[in-house]
Amino acid sequence: MERIDKILSEHTPYSRKEIKKLISQKAVCVNEEVVKKPESKFDENNISIKINGEIIETKKNIFLLLNKPKGYISATESKSQQTVLDLMPQKYKHRSLFPAGRLDKDTTGLMLITDDGEFAHNILSPRKHVQKEYEVTIDIPVTSEMAEGFKKGVSLHDGECKTAHLEITGEYSAKVTITEGRYHQIKRMFGCFGAKVLELNRIRIGNLYLPKDLKLGEVKEATKDELQKIQERN
Ligand code: URA
Repeated sequence: MERIDKILSEHTPYSRKEIKKLISQKAVCVNEEVVKKPESKFDENNISIKINGEIIETKKNIFLLLNKPKGYISATESKSQQTVLDLMPQKYKHRSLFPAGRLDKDTTGLMLITDDGEFAHNILSPRKHVQKEYEVTIDIPVTSEMAEGFKKGVSLHDGECKTAHLEITGEYSAKVTITEGRYHQIKRMFGCFGAKVLELNRIRIGNLYLPKDLKLGEVKEATKDELQKIQERN
């Protein structure tokens, strides 16, 4: 059992003082009943909280899916640039969120933002071979030599890439699936064939495709099923 003011200070952006005020204004409901005192105790694992009618999320960890737009860096803070955390709705801002993996500033698509380090490590570890699929547009025609080279494993200055799958989808476009997450990996892989990547959009992590209704810049909480799919290996 835990005091409601402590529970709220962990799960909302409010200070203890603000929480006290909200309680005195009868704005806080626990299990559909108005809370009268900040020192009232509740079972943290079995509680439904509303502040001014709005549900407060008390889950231990949070998993958010973002359709990253261009122009945002995959970092938690930056003095000069916008980060993916700037796209998080206010209600998640008090959490220690970070992006699980990186997309370049000019790359778009599916990202997982979480406060669960262990989960993030699991999907990022190269040993887990979680697939990541990208739609790619390049500046020269895509060739079968590129597909064969990707399959064999492209040599980059920091070592040989694991086998990657390239499906030609148009004269200048392809879908590429990799299982690693090296710095600028896909750009550098195409660079080996004299090609420049013009557009890069991640459409899948594990077995989870970018949800169709998630527009650029939008965020949604991942369902259990989606989290399961993210971890699946093919
Ligand atoms: N490969 C890249 O080159 N950039 C990304 O953002 C992701 C994969």
